[in-house]
Amino acid sequence: QANAFDEPYRPQFHFSPKANWMNDPNGMVYHDGEYHLFYQYYPDSNVWGPMHWGHAVSEDLLYWEHLPVAIEPDSLGWIFSGSALFDATNSSGLGSAENPPLVALYTYHDPIGAESGRDDFQTQGLAYSLDNGRTWEKYPGNPVLKNPGIKDFRDPKVTQVKSDGEEKWIMSLAVKDKISFYASDNLLDWKHLSDFNPDWAAYGGVWECPDLFPLATPEGEQKWVLLVSINPGGPNGGSATQYFIGDFDGEKYTSAQNAVKWLDYGADNYAGVTWSNIPELDGRRLFIGWMSNWTYANVVPTEVWRSANTLPRSLELYAVEGEYHLASRPVKELEMLREESQVISGQNITLEQELVELQFQTNTTDFSIEFSNPAGERVIIEKKGDTLFVDRAESGLVDFNDGFPARHSAPVNGLEVDELRIFLDRSSIEIFINNGELVMTDLVFPRERYTRLHLEGLKDENHLHYLKSVW
Ligand code: FRU
Repeated sequence: QANAFDEPYRPQFHFSPKANWMNDPNGMVYHDGEYHLFYQYYPDSNVWGPMHWGHAVSEDLLYWEHLPVAIEPDSLGWIFSGSALFDATNSSGLGSAENPPLVALYTYHDPIGAESGRDDFQTQGLAYSLDNGRTWEKYPGNPVLKNPGIKDFRDPKVTQVKSDGEEKWIMSLAVKDKISFYASDNLLDWKHLSDFNPDWAAYGGVWECPDLFPLATPEGEQKWVLLVSINPGGPNGGSATQYFIGDFDGEKYTSAQNAVKWLDYGADNYAGVTWSNIPELDGRRLFIGWMSNWTYANVVPTEVWRSANTLPRSLELYAVEGEYHLASRPVKELEMLREESQVISGQNITLEQELVELQFQTNTTDFSIEFSNPAGERVIIEKKGDTLFVDRAESGLVDFNDGFPARHSAPVNGLEVDELRIFLDRSSIEIFINNGELVMTDLVFPRERYTRLHLEGLKDENHLHYLKSVW
């Protein structure tokens, strides 16, 4: 029996539950010096089932303390994805002026209703905490938002918006293949405002896990970003997250965009959303995603636990030829994991340790980077012309699902690729072009660790950091 958090494939610097099934990150809120992370969790098995909210806290987004399950199913249903916020003015009346509550809004999924063929089995519920998220009370008047008769009606993400000088709560909700916006003054009574579903968006599957938030352009103008996860229909198959850049006037979301934009072109970054209540001084919009894909999430080759999260990333707008895009920058806290750093040169490098961060300078021309092990397993990252590829067809264990062994691609789209950063953990690889302007996150399950690195087409001075485990 391996030590806890030291099993084969156990992520060493990514969050994973101690045991059993996890999917979407939920309810991320910063409060009283702690980053809270909740997550879709089934404590009784390593495959998806009756959902709970698992819980962990961290002071730095790296080292997580695992806490007991926060929210459990009840007679209204299982606890699906949603968000949490700090109700600082006690607008809900669920706390007091001296002790305002943390409030979670989540989806109730009623399994009996679902099986009986009814369409209204998903509703929105509320729970609150008066002790820094350690214990949660369900609101006695649940559900706070009933279902109008639509099968997919879920994943409330609530944010505070100032419009006409007044603060109100805005809920973004995934409703089949559109996002509906609702408003409330007290988090308990919700009024429908508008819907967003432009023709040119990606509609390969159901829309899930929206997130609406303001973000400044490099020139300091405020835009509104909307994240929408979609399953299936991702650019490399299965689950992926598209985003929109536009405006929100307090009632309606609009975007002048006319083509789909993807947050991450890898196969393994889904259902991610951002932290609420980050102090204004910090100014960051912090994101974490579920590092898996519904195509094979239930069958990836781990037994004790299933699934991890992506590295935490800070979302920022950047422009290419006058058009804005969303960058996912690895958070600066990650630099604290660097234990030993070297300058590397030459084409063949031996990796002495398993947890690695690499920083490369490129010539803005084609390049290739290959990680391999003595068993001949390898993962190849290469840029050819205007396309970036990650090939995991021979990366290790791949035959647990037909969709897993594949060569994933991403259009470079006018980006001048001059830098890349790669994070390699025991069962994942994350590639950040220009520090996150193009991102690919992919799981890999090598039978032994990758010990060799072969480089072509890169500049000759690069950086290798061996990272420490957070467990
Ligand atoms: C996304 C999702 C959500 C839902 C949750 C259920 O991965 O399907 O839409 O709330 O997972 O676990």
